[in-house]
Amino acid sequence: MSPAESDLRSPEWFRSVVFYEVPIRAFYDSNGDGIGDLPGVLAKLDYLSDLGVGAIWLLPFYRSPWNDDGYDISNHYEVDPRFGTIDDLDRLVEGAHARGLRVIGDLVTNHVSIEHPWFQAARKDRASPYRPWFLWSDTGTEFSRARRIFPDFEKSNWTFDPEAGQYYFHRFFATQPDLNHDHPAVEEEMLKFARFWLDHGLDGFRCDAAPYLFKREGTTCQSLPEVHTFFQKVRAMLDAEYPGSILISEANQSVAETVAYFDAGHEFQEVLHFPVMPNFYLALAENNPRRILDVLRTTLSGAPASCGWAYFLRNHDELSLEQVSEDERALFFRYFPLPPEARVHLGVRRRLAPLVAGDDSSVLLLTALVLGLPGCPYLYYGDEIGMGDRLDLPDRDAVRTPMQWENGPTAGFSSADPSRLTRPLVTDPKFAPAARNVAEQETATRSLLWRMRTLLRVRAAHSTVFGSATFEGIDLGSTPVLGFWRRGQEYQILCLYNFSVQPVSGAFPLPERVWASPVELLRGGHSSTVTDHTFQYRLGPRAFSWTLFLCRQPRTAA
Ligand code: BGC
Repeated sequence: MSPAESDLRSPEWFRSVVFYEVPIRAFYDSNGDGIGDLPGVLAKLDYLSDLGVGAIWLLPFYRSPWNDDGYDISNHYEVDPRFGTIDDLDRLVEGAHARGLRVIGDLVTNHVSIEHPWFQAARKDRASPYRPWFLWSDTGTEFSRARRIFPDFEKSNWTFDPEAGQYYFHRFFATQPDLNHDHPAVEEEMLKFARFWLDHGLDGFRCDAAPYLFKREGTTCQSLPEVHTFFQKVRAMLDAEYPGSILISEANQSVAETVAYFDAGHEFQEVLHFPVMPNFYLALAENNPRRILDVLRTTLSGAPASCGWAYFLRNHDELSLEQVSEDERALFFRYFPLPPEARVHLGVRRRLAPLVAGDDSSVLLLTALVLGLPGCPYLYYGDEIGMGDRLDLPDRDAVRTPMQWENGPTAGFSSADPSRLTRPLVTDPKFAPAARNVAEQETATRSLLWRMRTLLRVRAAHSTVFGSATFEGIDLGSTPVLGFWRRGQEYQILCLYNFSVQPVSGAFPLPERVWASPVELLRGGHSSTVTDHTFQYRLGPRAFSWTLFLCRQPRTAA
């Protein structure tokens, strides 16, 4: 067993790595058909490993008609032929593990594609054993308190199916009928689905749409106790049969509901931190990070020691503004210059770099922040080079355009004719392949990619402290600086982030326990001195610093 492989066995591997989200379709096309594929991801593993990430999250690769980009599965046990074969998946997982990279997939258990043979059988015949696998109604009026998730597209959670002669329930698109999780066979099948891909070497799953699996009249049909019981069973199966594999919850809910998915360490190892995410952006809007510290203060203790919050800035969906107030939403839209077509559902279909008007300092500030917080940071493909979006594409396709590997007619994504690409390339001159691509940024030491890589490497070198050490916010009064300590056993890292577009300087007393001979872990944009156990700093506009202090040496050694 290679060292990389043996490292994969640590049950808490996920607490020290950075995750990278890979939409296979848009990443790299290995066979010239214009569509990204699994061998394409394999071909780019060295790039990812060089970037410094420790795990990749593959978006759904199962057979699907792609009405919801793969989140509408029509066969749970097949790789979509446009992505390759199961052997390709095996080779990818093997290649990743050999490089010390973990691979997680998406466990989509709430719904299937309308084209799935289960639904096809169910709709045709009331006596089919699959009929009770779905939720049917003669009136389409039940569960009226269940929120519609895609209000821009669906007028109701029920759609009448003439073939079935009844309405069926769908929490998302009408092309995604919900499974009836009260039927024992459904639960069994979903466990089988998970086992199948774990047997192919996956290291865990991000569990899609976790809160919505069970429906009860008179409730919001979200985060019901039955949901937790189901995922506890999945977790128990993983622990017993696939130790070291992990579950990550996608629950875009209030703080209290979101925290519950840790369930004292019995359910999810990671919970995506939806409540804090919009606050990263609102803090930029206010030139003041206080609100971030407020959310962290109320949520950090919710993650048991063996678990971790999963932080992200962007993903393949819209930037969701569901968890903020009307006033905060208004503040967001006042600050970020967005054309009306950028809005979708209750959020924004825009990537990170265009949101901050292409300002690399802001991109780095927020990235360094999610890398500095205790838990598991997630990066969205292409954000490391500041890729843009295409608002003329429908829905969330806007943020799923081909990865920009180089300057050229297909951005080095494919050898197909540019007109055959699965989605067109970004054209905005500020973010198009000519302006932002991997090949050019790889050779320029001042590029965003280079600086991202430096950040990731520094984090990797101190992964135990960044991943697991305690967090202690620093009260910096009314300054626009967010400051906190990450306190390890042997050393501590002081993290400072200036949210203002103006330079800022300040001072604060060092805690007694640190040895006052700091080492700056990053260069540029900041300076500091220590006099009389007081830390004095100066941070440029939107600059940040990570400073290492040894823990105070025992009196005798001193
Ligand atoms: C995924 C979306 C998808 C939805 C329905 C979400 O959580 O991230 O992309 O449309 O689930 O499966």
